[in-house]
Amino acid sequence: MSEIEKIKNEYFSKIDLANKLEKINQIKSELFGKNGVISNQFKILATKGHEDKKTFATELNILKNDLLSNINQKLEKIKINEINKKLENEKIDITLPERSFSIGRIHPVSQVIDEISSIFSEIGFSLEEGPDVENEYNNFTALNTPDYHPARDMHDTFYLDKNKKTLLRTHTSPVQIRTMIKGKPPFKIIAPGRTYRSDSDQTHSPMFHQLEGLHIDQNINMGHLKGCLNYFIKEFFEVDKINMRFRPSHFPFTEPSAEVDIGYEIINGQITIGKGKQWLEILGCGMVHPNVLKNVKVDHKKFQGYAFGIGIDRLAMLKYGINDLRAFFECDYRWLNYYGFDPLDVPTNYRGLSK
Ligand code: PHE
Repeated sequence: MSEIEKIKNEYFSKIDLANKLEKINQIKSELFGKNGVISNQFKILATKGHEDKKTFATELNILKNDLLSNINQKLEKIKINEINKKLENEKIDITLPERSFSIGRIHPVSQVIDEISSIFSEIGFSLEEGPDVENEYNNFTALNTPDYHPARDMHDTFYLDKNKKTLLRTHTSPVQIRTMIKGKPPFKIIAPGRTYRSDSDQTHSPMFHQLEGLHIDQNINMGHLKGCLNYFIKEFFEVDKINMRFRPSHFPFTEPSAEVDIGYEIINGQITIGKGKQWLEILGCGMVHPNVLKNVKVDHKKFQGYAFGIGIDRLAMLKYGINDLRAFFECDYRWLNYYGFDPLDVPTNYRGLSK
């Protein structure tokens, strides 16, 4: 067998067996590379005598062309194969069931914060925020809370350092201090947010939510406080009449101080707000203590006003008939799907708050 034929047989079968792009490219360079099999035959051709040269050149050129066209055919085949494979893999099976998807729900606490903010913004309150990690001064001292006050105790407060200088705020009242220090009176603000106390049972969670209110101006009195809270509670529970009572109480940062209860009754297991003989405490309030105003450099002879702190979670439980506070923070989707709200149903005073 001539050399030409040997090469032909060997490489035809090699090309035939190759079924990957890289393999074909490798064969191609084996044949036609600088020291390739065919390139070497051309070098040999140059050394041949005149007669031999002619036939050898013809055979060699035929072989070269055959190999090249063989290779090209194979390349074409491999490319088509690859495209087919891709199409096969990416085929969309329209008989498959659709992927399930669900729209998220708004947590009742977020919903209630939106509702409350909407109500108070209607009567001129603007929104303030403060950090969860507070200093001892804003949380206690500036709020006229003396060193021996029980709220300062470790049993109540989560301190973040040994010296009891930083803590998780135990109420939203430090936002009163922050607001008055950075601004000038009058002030008319609400401040919703997370608060923390070392407490845990069915109606207490170590993290809970409050909404602070503060209104300071030249002629503000307790009548304004009553009117404001009465309006708020009626709007919030969407009722025309409300039974409400102010019970004397004590907070170091207000004088006088009161706790507010609302009347309710339970008929067939359903709670009705606004009437009835039973009372439920929902907030603390009072006239801002002159010492607090002194601490934030507000002229307490000229300016005065009221403050209140509402327990948001409790209001949410009451309005939406939820009886275990702990469920609020367990992040159970089934609970949220049941009690949560439509994300597109933003509460406004005009369209209605809860629906
Ligand atoms: N900060 C008080 C509490 O957490 C509530 C309160 C706020 C009372 C403002 C009076 C005025 O119990």
